[in-house]
Amino acid sequence: MTGDEIVSLCRQHTLFEWSAQSKVDPIPVARAKGVHFWTPEGKRFIDFNSQLMCVNIGHGDERVVRAIREQAEVLPYANPFMATEARARLGAKLAEIAPGDIDVFFFTNGGSEANENAIKLARLATGRHKILARYRSYHGATAGAMTLTGDPRRWANEPGISGVVHVLDPYHGIERGWDSAEQSLAMLEEVIQLEGPHTIAGFILETVTGTNGVLVPPDGYLQGVRDLCTRYGILMICDEVMSGFGRTGEWFAVNHWNVVPDILTMAKGLTSAYVPLGAVGLRRQLADHFKSNVFYGGLTYNSHPLACAAALATIGVYEEDRLIENARRMGTLMCGLMADLQTRHPSIGAARSIGLFGLIELIRNRATKQPLAPFNGTSEEMTALSRFFRDHGLYTFVRWNTFFTNPPLCVTESELREAFGIIDEGLAITDRAVM
Ligand SMILES: Cc1ncc(COP(=O)(O)O)c(C=O)c1O
Repeated sequence: MTGDEIVSLCRQHTLFEWSAQSKVDPIPVARAKGVHFWTPEGKRFIDFNSQLMCVNIGHGDERVVRAIREQAEVLPYANPFMATEARARLGAKLAEIAPGDIDVFFFTNGGSEANENAIKLARLATGRHKILARYRSYHGATAGAMTLTGDPRRWANEPGISGVVHVLDPYHGIERGWDSAEQSLAMLEEVIQLEGPHTIAGFILETVTGTNGVLVPPDGYLQGVRDLCTRYGILMICDEVMSGFGRTGEWFAVNHWNVVPDILTMAKGLTSAYVPLGAVGLRRQLADHFKSNVFYGGLTYNSHPLACAAALATIGVYEEDRLIENARRMGTLMCGLMADLQTRHPSIGAARSIGLFGLIELIRNRATKQPLAPFNGTSEEMTALSRFFRDHGLYTFVRWNTFFTNPPLCVTESELREAFGIIDEGLAITDRAVM
C-alpha cells in the first residue's frame, strides 16, 4: 500500500488517540531500523522520541526479534496460573537489576495496568484507601491511572475512581519556576496531615516526570518523599514507565538519588515496545504480605510468554551493547548540545535533560518568560516548528510550548549532531516570535 492509502484506510476505520479524528495527520510508517524509520515511499526520519519514549534499544534489533520468534514456535501462550521458563527467567533477571530489595513482579500489558495494580496492591497491603498523586503527571488512560494523572488529559475523563488527592509539584511552569526541595516537601507534609495520614495508602510519582516536562526533581526531594512515606506508613510508588530502562542513564531513575520505593512500575523500555508488557515491582516485605493474603488481581495476558521472552532479550541487549553507559555518555553530549542551542536561540527559555531524556521549553518574551504556547494549548509558531521537523525528517513530540529530545539509547554522536542540526535550523522560526 502507498502511504496515502494506509493513512486514508486507518482514518476511515480506526480511532486515533487523544484527537478529534478530522484533525489527525499521521505519518505512514513501513519499516524501522536503529534510530531511523521510513515511510512506504522511503522518506527517512530520525526517531528523536523513540516513538513514545519506548523503543529504547532502537528499532529492529534481530536479537529481540529472534527471541520472540523462538518463543512463538515453542509456546506462544500459557495462562497466568501456569509457570513458564520465560516468566521464571524474567522475574529473576528483574530482581537482579531493580533497585534495593524490589524482587517480586506482577506482569501486565502496559504502564496503565501496572499503575492500576500498584494502587490495588497498596490499598490491599495497607488497608487504607487514598492515593496521593501530582498534578504535572501522566499515569495512563485506564480509569484508575487516568484519575491518578494530573494533566489535562484527565479532565474529560472525570469523574474517575474515588480517593485520589493531587498535590503540587516542585515545578510551577516556565514563568514561576521551581520550589526548593524543602518548600515542596513542607507542602506535601501539610497535605498528608490535612488528609489524615492513616487514610493514605500510597503516593505515586514519576521519578522524573515525562510528558509533563522532563522534570528532574531537585536534590533532596525524592529522599524527602521517601522519609515522609516511611514516617507516615504511606507506600512510595515510583512510576518509571517512561524513565526506566536506561532512559536517564541508569537502569532506573531512582538510582540517581539512591532511593528505593516500595513499589516500582515499568513498561515501555522493558521490552522496548517490541511486544506490550508492563510490570509492578514490590519490595520483599510488601510482597510477603501476599504470602497469606490474597492478591485480588489478574489479567488473561499476565506474564505473556512472548512478552517475557522479548523483555529478557531486550535486557540482554542493554547489557551486551552497554546501552545504559551509552545513554550516560551520549546524554552528556546532548546536554552540551542543548546548552549550546540555549546560548544562541532567544526562544529557548529552558533546556533540561538527564541521560537521553530531554526537553526544550520555548518562550516569546525573555523578560516575563511567557511560554510560546499556553498551558494545554498550541500556537502558530509551535505548529510551524512541528511542521519544520516533520518536513526535515526529524520525528519528535511537540507539546504545548515544548519539544522532546529522546532518541533511542543506541544513538551515536553523529546521529545526535545531525538531529541537533535540524533543531538548530528550526529554532529560527521560534526565535522570530521573541519580543
Ligand atoms: C509515566 C507513565 N506512566 C504510565 C503510562 C501509561 O502507559 P501505557 O500507555 O503503556 O498504558 C505512560 C505512558 O506514556 C507514562 O509515560
